[in-house]
Amino acid sequence: MSNAPIGIFDSGIGGTSIFKEIHTLLPNENFIYLADSKNAPYGNKTEDEILQLSIKNTEILLKKNCKIIVVACNTATTNAISYLRANYSIPFIGIEPAIKPAALNTQTKAIGILATKGTLSSHLFHKTTDLYANGIKVIEQVGEGIVPLIESGMLDSDEMLDLLKTYLKPMLKHNIDYLVLGCTHYPYLIPTLSKMLPEHVKIIDSGLAVAKQTKAILANNNLLNSDAKPSSIQLYSNGNLEVLNTIIDHQFATSYLDF
Ligand code: SIN
Repeated sequence: MSNAPIGIFDSGIGGTSIFKEIHTLLPNENFIYLADSKNAPYGNKTEDEILQLSIKNTEILLKKNCKIIVVACNTATTNAISYLRANYSIPFIGIEPAIKPAALNTQTKAIGILATKGTLSSHLFHKTTDLYANGIKVIEQVGEGIVPLIESGMLDSDEMLDLLKTYLKPMLKHNIDYLVLGCTHYPYLIPTLSKMLPEHVKIIDSGLAVAKQTKAILANNNLLNSDAKPSSIQLYSNGNLEVLNTIIDHQFATSYLDF
């Protein structure tokens, strides 16, 4: 079982930001990644639609014999991970926005969070914010339109710059010093965001924390791969492979899968 793959799914290509972090930490592991780009974005779907899509992705990864599943999508995590954990026997790792480190370290007592509507309106998000950000001003912003632009490969487009300018404005007005990226697509915007934000504003995402958590859970369950063979990495998309290849810098082989 320990040489079975780590399964990862996302509403599209954004979860590759999480895949890269896990692969860097665990280069010996085998991976299967599902980019459900055909159904992106998940962020505006109902809770039940997100759950059904998450079940569909999980079933595919289970058929491919995955030993653990990383739900590399904030929206799917907040809306479906409790169900998945309760109904399947393998471990599931979810992605939660890094509210805690931002709230603990802010000097201005104001932090910004950019995420989807599905994440910001979820019970899990409110629970985390209430727990860690007591007394801190949290400026929540729905990143409407960002995921479709990334899925279309329009990271550096004028449309993207206009959206980001609009979304950052209220946060800067409140003098945030941390910007929390609450969607796994958004780390691909860090180079652009860094140019737009004042120097003192730090950007944080959940990638490294998720990679460490995946390693810890595999170790606790005796599931780390001890096989010395070169790892196998299969990235599947039901959308545009060219955009996926560009975002992963053509580093890994990709295939189209109709799911
Ligand atoms: C989306 O599909 O709307 C974004 C995915 C995420 O929340 O990470």
